[in-house]
Amino acid sequence: MEARTSGRRILLGVTGGIAAYKSPELVRRLRDAGFEVQCILTPTAAAFVSALTLEVVSGSPVLGEEYLQPGVGGAELHIQAAARADLLLVAPATAHTLAALALGLADNMLLTTALAFTGPVLVAPAMHAAMWNQPAVAARVAELCARGVEIVGPVEGALASGELGIGRMAEVPELVAAVQRRFAAGLLAGRHLLVAAGPTHEPIDPVRFLGNRSSGKMGFALAAEAARRGARVSLIAGPVALPTPAGVERFDVETALEMEARVHALAPSADVIVLAAAVADFRPLAAAPAKIKRSAGVPQIELVANPDILAGLAAVAPRALRVGFAAETGDDDAEAARKLLAKGAHLLVANDVSRSDIGFGSDQNEVTVHWRDREPLRLSRRPKSQLAGDLLDLITRELPGSDPVDATAR
Ligand code: CTP
Repeated sequence: MEARTSGRRILLGVTGGIAAYKSPELVRRLRDAGFEVQCILTPTAAAFVSALTLEVVSGSPVLGEEYLQPGVGGAELHIQAAARADLLLVAPATAHTLAALALGLADNMLLTTALAFTGPVLVAPAMHAAMWNQPAVAARVAELCARGVEIVGPVEGALASGELGIGRMAEVPELVAAVQRRFAAGLLAGRHLLVAAGPTHEPIDPVRFLGNRSSGKMGFALAAEAARRGARVSLIAGPVALPTPAGVERFDVETALEMEARVHALAPSADVIVLAAAVADFRPLAAAPAKIKRSAGVPQIELVANPDILAGLAAVAPRALRVGFAAETGDDDAEAARKLLAKGAHLLVANDVSRSDIGFGSDQNEVTVHWRDREPLRLSRRPKSQLAGDLLDLITRELPGSDPVDATAR
């Protein structure tokens, strides 16, 4: 019996990595989820998985390099394939294809089709950790992200070589979920989301500051995903070296006071405010006007408290859904629950910053979400990009119009 389809067509680009052996399973699961799937194989991918297998499981002809042959309408094949598709998923994506996509190269059927395609693009890299960690690869990934391409994974685990490391293709259910999320786009249409991310730097003198290890990755991932879902997103970023996600309006700040001023200016129109920033709790009473000299001896630096931006939000944005993050060293539910109430937040996302495999600086995170009136929900370790989607699912459910609970009850 034919499964019911959503009518959504996925173009699945398969490139030449060992993870291509998972492609038939990926096609199956996408079809189970109601998608129509057509595969494009690169010449090297054809060495890892057969076109016949993919044709049988997808129920559609597989596209390859036949466009190079006379008599098959090759000149238009890529244009037609691009026009028919609702989403392009490249899984697995080799380092070579990642770079070619970033540069706009077009020397095979997949790349020419990708270049002609104007819809959402998801890319699931798979390669050895040594390759994934190369600056050349990171630069291409950053370019793709800045253009709105969603990078799913890679994840940590056993690599083809048997070593452990980051580089495995995201698992099939995760890829299917990422595709489904893209079609949930629009769920946040008409909503204004304000995200504060990264650390703050509190100047001691013109060259030194008090700061912390926050990388901003979690907040940036949330901003990127919210924009994909149709929200208007304002991202207030402390000093971080991250590209601005596509479709996001960014405001760079340095200190807690600057961050607070920017948040207050934008908060009144916000439906959701997420404080994923690691705001410095204290600042030097006054920054020295000139560099403090070593010869002057050990300085005594008097600190004063910074405002608690999250705690102050109830007054400036009483109707917004207010979401905080809690950086705890250790897994402390009681402390997170206390912070949730003390800061007047509706949701508090707690993570253990004492672990080096998650949290600050990592691409992965594992969190516990606290509500005022429900049991905490643990979200096991996953890439920050995926966690961003999961957290936005929870946030969206709390918004008036998506939830029977009256917003004025907040
Ligand atoms: N926060 C804030 N302003 C501050 C400090 C924190 O808005 N001056 C926000 C953070 O952005 C985060 C939440 O409060 O959303 C919790 O941050 P955390 O550092 O865990 O809380 P603190 O109140 O600083 O608690 P601790 O004493 O554990 O540092």
